Amino acid sequence: MPIGIFDSGYGGLTILREIRRRLPQYDYVYLGDNARAPYGTRSFELVYGFTLEAVKALFERGCNLVIFACNTASAKALRSIQQNDLPQIDPSRRVLGVIRPTVESLAGISKTGHIGVLGTPGTVASHSYALELEKSAPDMKITEYACPMWVPLVENNEAASPGADYFVAEYIDGLLEKDPEIDTIVLGCTHFPMLIDKIRNYVGDKMKIIAQGGIVAESLADYLMRHPEIDEKCEKNGSIQYLTTENPEKFNSIASMFMQEDIEASRVILPIQSLDTIREFMPAEALPLLDSYIALHPNDDEGYRIRGIKHWALGQRSSAINDYLAAIRINPDSKAKMALRTTYDILNYYNKDLLNP
Ligand code: DGL
Repeated sequence: MPIGIFDSGYGGLTILREIRRRLPQYDYVYLGDNARAPYGTRSFELVYGFTLEAVKALFERGCNLVIFACNTASAKALRSIQQNDLPQIDPSRRVLGVIRPTVESLAGISKTGHIGVLGTPGTVASHSYALELEKSAPDMKITEYACPMWVPLVENNEAASPGADYFVAEYIDGLLEKDPEIDTIVLGCTHFPMLIDKIRNYVGDKMKIIAQGGIVAESLADYLMRHPEIDEKCEKNGSIQYLTTENPEKFNSIASMFMQEDIEASRVILPIQSLDTIREFMPAEALPLLDSYIALHPNDDEGYRIRGIKHWALGQRSSAINDYLAAIRINPDSKAKMALRTTYDILNYYNKDLLNP
């Protein structure tokens, strides 16, 4: 069996790179849920639902051990999946996160005892780092700070742009304003090492910057040594397979740059993307709002588009497609065209005639 590595998008590649450097003999499957990134601004329910689907997809591909190379998933979904889902799915399978190994590696690292943790809004709101650190190093003063723009910059291949300089300065200043005695900054999101040169340039040599790749790789090596029953099942041909929920060509071009080697990913469609289970994720109060909009605009393109969204959300695909088509018939420039394209993209089903009625 290969080892599964999961992230919401490209960020986990910073972990995979180090894991492969440390443990090159193992087989890996990397899954990036790029189509639904970023996770960091999403609710607990969605991060949990998305992550569980990704874990199941990796299990189906033979992975008995899955690493969440994603702090947001580690903060919001790891414990529920370990405690509630694994016993039902298969108690012999394992999922491991990145927060605990990172925190364990911080002992004695700071001279001032003041540490800053940068993360997504989801990770910061969960206070997972502060809670873990409280257990292992209660004397340390920890300041968590959210950097909501850094993941979109990386996912959109803007990590080297001047826009990234602006947001690096913005968040580092914000963190140091909260605690000027910080001498160690933990990059508590696996996307952030893609910005590490800019971060280092901005803070100078005196500040320690901790990226998680090496730490997680070392902790996985240690885990496999302590669990020979799992290690034995791991295949060791040095292979790697990439899966993405996005268009694979887009993934290949960005991921190849990060990994500095040619990558050929395959598309994976996760259940929620086919929207069969969207009903569970549609807030109950949304339906009456959609209905009242439809009642106000019974015959215009926007009314039909909203009707399509409602039908789609209820899993009634063909009605939704008919609604989008009606909207496009009324207004050839209707935004429904985009909805229809997305629909088809999601279903992995293209029909150009339908798109141009
Ligand atoms: N790279 C992930 C993390 O470590 C999540 C980023 C996101 O999708 O917001 O938190």
